[in-house]
This record gives sequence, C-alpha cells and structure tokens, in this order.
Amino acid sequence: MLRMIAAASALLLAACQAETPAPKRESAAATAVAPILDTPDAVDVHSYAKPLQARVTHLALDLAVDFDARRIGGTATLDIEAKPDATTIVLDDKGLEIEKITTADGASLQYKVGAVDANLGAPLEIAIGDARKIVITYRSAPDAGALQWLTPAQTAGKQQPYLFSQGQAIENRTWIPTQDSPGIRQTWEAKISVPQPLTAVMSAPKVGEPATTGTARQFAFKMDKPVAPYLIAIAVGDLAFRSLGPRTGVWTEPAMLDKAATELADTEKMITAAEALYGPYQWGRYDLLVLPPSFPFGGMENPTLTFLTPTFIAGDKSNNSLIAHELAHSWSGNLATNATWADFWLNEGMTTYATTRIVEAVYGPKVAGQQISLGHDAMRKAIEDNGGAGGADTRLRIDLKGRNPDDGLTDIPYEKGAAFLRTIEIAVGRERFDAWLKGWFARHQFAPVTTSLFLADIREHLIKGDAALEAKLMLDLWVNQPGIPANLAPADPAVFADVDVAVTAFAAGTSPDPAAWARWTTDERLRFLTRIDRKQPLDRLEALGRQFGLARAGNNELRFAYLDLAVANRLDPAIPALEDFLMTQGRRKFVRPLLTALAEDPQWGRPIALRVYPKARPLYHPVTTRDIDKLLGVS
Ligand code: BES
Ligand code: ZN
Repeated sequence: MLRMIAAASALLLAACQAETPAPKRESAAATAVAPILDTPDAVDVHSYAKPLQARVTHLALDLAVDFDARRIGGTATLDIEAKPDATTIVLDDKGLEIEKITTADGASLQYKVGAVDANLGAPLEIAIGDARKIVITYRSAPDAGALQWLTPAQTAGKQQPYLFSQGQAIENRTWIPTQDSPGIRQTWEAKISVPQPLTAVMSAPKVGEPATTGTARQFAFKMDKPVAPYLIAIAVGDLAFRSLGPRTGVWTEPAMLDKAATELADTEKMITAAEALYGPYQWGRYDLLVLPPSFPFGGMENPTLTFLTPTFIAGDKSNNSLIAHELAHSWSGNLATNATWADFWLNEGMTTYATTRIVEAVYGPKVAGQQISLGHDAMRKAIEDNGGAGGADTRLRIDLKGRNPDDGLTDIPYEKGAAFLRTIEIAVGRERFDAWLKGWFARHQFAPVTTSLFLADIREHLIKGDAALEAKLMLDLWVNQPGIPANLAPADPAVFADVDVAVTAFAAGTSPDPAAWARWTTDERLRFLTRIDRKQPLDRLEALGRQFGLARAGNNELRFAYLDLAVANRLDPAIPALEDFLMTQGRRKFVRPLLTALAEDPQWGRPIALRVYPKARPLYHPVTTRDIDKLLGVS
C-alpha cells in the first residue's frame, strides 16, 4: 500500500506533541508541515534534495531587486525538518552566487556546491549539524533562467523596467535556494525591495502596504499554505490594479488595464462554476497579472495570482478558456500536485478536463464540445509528432530521467490526459465521476500525487471492485501504454458539422462563404484552418488569408494557425506579417513551432529565421530562447 509520511515523523515530533495537541487532518492540510511521499515512484529525478533525510518546510526571503545588475539578492531563511541524526541538507542550486550560509544566530556553516548538470544545476550540500534554521546570503546570476528583465522599451508604458519570473518546471532554483521539487511543499514569505516607483506582486497574499524609504519600496507577502516551490513567482514593474469582483482583480501596466479588465470580466463566474464542481476555492483571492508580450506561456497558475500572456486578449473573450484552465489549476496542480514531472499529466490532464467543464458551465455545452473536439485533434497530432502510436513519450506517465522536464511539455499530458478522464466520466456517468473527482481533490489537498496514487484512489473510491467496470475503463493501458486505447470516448462529430462541410468544399475548390466565416466563432475558424490540407496552392492560401484578414487576425490563435500554414507552404507574401508576429510577442507555443519550421527548411525558411531571430531574441524569455538558440546555432 502507498504510504505517506508527514515530514515531521512521529519520532521527530514526539517531544512537541506532548505540549501541542496534533492538529486535525483538515487544518493540518492548510497550515502544518505538508506530507511527503516515500514511494519509489515519488523520487524526483530532477532534484538533488533528499527530503526523507532533511527537508525545507518554510522559506523566508528578504530580497532586493537590482535592475542595473539584473540580479535579485539578499537572504533566504530556511526552516528545516530532518531526521534526528541528519547533519546535512541538500538544496537545488542553478547558478546562485552564495556569499555565506549561517545558523539563525549567525554562526557560519560549511557548504559545498557539487558538479553542475546542464538541466538540473548543482546540489548545494550544507553541513547543518543540529541547526534547523539556516540563513543563506546570496544573489541570482544575471542569466538566471527563471527571470526575465525587460528594458523600458520592451514594456507597454516604455518608461520603467520590468521583471518577472517563471518557475515551472525547474527554473526557480536559479533565484531561490531551496529544494526545488514539486513534492516538497513549503510555506513561504517574502520581503521584496524594489526601486521607486515600481510595484512588486507575488503569488501570495500581500501583507500590509509597501514601506517607502528614500529610493526604494518594500513589499511583503505571506503564503501560509504549503505550496510546491515552482509556484513561487514574482513580477515587478509599473503595475496598476483594477478590481473585477469580490475576490478577483487584474494587475497590469496602466496602458493595458482597460483591455485586460474587459477581457477578464467573466472571472468570478468561472470561480463560482469551478467551486460548484470541485469544492471551495481555497486560496483566498484570485487575481490575474497580464504580463508584457514576452511572457513565454499562455498562462501560469501561480497561486492567488495567475500570470497571463497579453496575447490572449482578443477583444471578444474568445480565448477565455485560458482563464478557466489556469483557474482549474487551483485544484488540479496547486492543491493536488504532481509529485514529480513524470506525473505532469495529473496536473495538466486533469486541468484540461476541468477546463472544458468550467467552459461548459459558463459558455454552454456547444462551446465546450467544440473545445473537446479541437483537443482530440491536438492529441492525435501530438501522438504523430512524438513517434506515433508506439512512441514512448505518448504515455501519460513518462520517463524523463536525464532530460529536461520541458521535454514532457507536449499535448499528450494535456489532451490524452483529458480524454482519459472524459472517457471515465462517460463510462460511469457524470454524477459519479464528479463526486469522485471532487473527492480526489479533498483527499489530496495540499499534497503530492502520483499516477499510482491516482490508480489506487480511483479503484478504492469509484470502481469499488466492480470487475466489469474495471475491464471497461482500461486504466493501466491509459496510463502506462503509448497511443490511444480503444475505449476512447469519441468527440461529438456534430459540433463542427457546418465547418466540416466547408473543409470538404475547400478541398474541392470552393472557399468558405464570407457570411458563414463571419458567423463562425474563433474555435470554428480554428477547426477550419487546422483541418484543411496542410499543403495548399499558394494562390488559394494567399486569397484565403487576404479575404479573412488572417495574417494579422486580432485573435492570435487564428493568426498563428494561418502563419503556421503560410510557413509550411513557403508563402512569401506572409513574410512581413510573420516577422511582425515573431518580433512583437514571445509566447513559446507560437514562436517555437514557427521558428522550428523555418529552421528546418534550409532554402526558404532558415534565412528568414536567421534574419529575424537575432532581432526578436531580446524579447524572448530564457525558457524560450534555450531551445531556439540550439536550433539556429545562435546565442
Ligand atoms: N502550467 C502550465 C504552463 C507550464 C507547464 C509552464 C510546464 C512550464 C512548464 C499552464 O497551466 C499551461 O498549461 N499553460 C498553457 C495554457 C493552455 C493549455 C490553455 C499555455 O501556456 O499554453
Ligand atoms: Zn496548465
């Protein structure tokens, strides 16, 4: 049976327990030391930490942000829980410049930075003796992989610099000295000093108002619920706030505030819908930060403060499933968290499933059904791109040893994971499935989860020994085998009936009726663009783009879908729009496939990529440039 140990083992706590009664399970989950899994499948190959020996339970940062030096520096005070005989603790360190490490009383401690691995960084082993609180004085390197430093010219307002972090998956070790493993949850607090007149926000409730000294402002934050360390995030810039509802609001640069607030107006409705499905929202506020266009992802579910790309703003809320997605992570991912990156599908597949449920509740079953159908197409394409039905990376639980966890960031965990859960939902009925999933979050809140825990839980609480149901669900096949099991619940072919007729007609030479196109939603237009043949006669592709304004579409998903076709067909007239797109935003999902396709076409594409990329590169975050640099041999 799976065992979970509270890091404070019975042995360790025996002394304190005599004085303080053990907290109840429920309240313990939210405030006390979070449990750690001790099963073999919960060993994180992407962290040097040995949490069963010694682990960080709480992190207190006292840092200053230096835009000139592009460094964050100060102290990190770590609370440690360790076996009584443990005399060392191992942290994750990628390029941190450590000045000294001491006990809370200032007595210096010996430490050693081990050999550096290109993905993981290095182990930082500290001789703690019997100290259980240590203070690390350090600063981040100017090229810290989690951090992007923007010049004023790279912001909307053009007056002030901007800094933001992206921790997932293993980037936070470049600016925070801790155990950077999703199974080692920590409570944390921070004091952040920034130059006047900038504002700092973090993925935690703020404490009080900023204290102002001559040239600096100091902000304070406190997260009293244990979180996976990849969820610690910061942004600093000329930020304004507007309330959107009783517990939601948006932060962004003043120039972006109106547009962002309009697009995000449905946020509170989404929270209400999510709570009806999965239980109370546990994080207090749900604010959103709309970042500058270099933000490398669509969104990032930093607790209490989702980070968003500005490219989701379409003016008509048509990309709002992104909000539903990041919100859903408040349950799947942030409450029940993948113990290691091999189990990433538990974060993203559950979230993708829950997203369509929230979308259904807020925007109706037709919209949700269409997004499920687009998801199935994305799943099939991901399987093709990852070695076909036998490809090892088409498994839900994948082997990432010796690789960057980013290698697992494909549509497989998202869409195959969601399709799996939807298959179960349809097999057992919505009512039963919803009750199970809500229960899953309650049983595993503020705790790490693995695929085997998932299997054990669903067998115990949903299947309950029903052999026929067990056979029907094919659980082991879904999680352990490549490809798509035969019991996949199909997408409804009727949801895109109109569009599919137009796709067939297009192949036969007829372009979509402009009145139909005007009526179609963004998802319908996306269906059209992703379903027509990938190879097109240039004149037809050009005419299609011109007729419907696709190369500069206001909706960036559409714009991307068209530019993707344009590159695949070497469409010269699209080059200026392509160049513009690559130069004005750095969302990895958009820029990486386009630059990859260009790079892989030595005659036509590569020269374009080599011309545009050096100019665009300063806009891109390190997690985006990392791969593209390799691809193009640029740095
Ligand atoms: N948590 C992810 C982003 C992520 C995953 C960053 C792994 C780094 C490593 C986030 O919730 C996400 O999935 N974003 C998607 C949103 C989309 C699926 C709606 C994105 O950025 O495109
Ligand atoms: Zn996600």
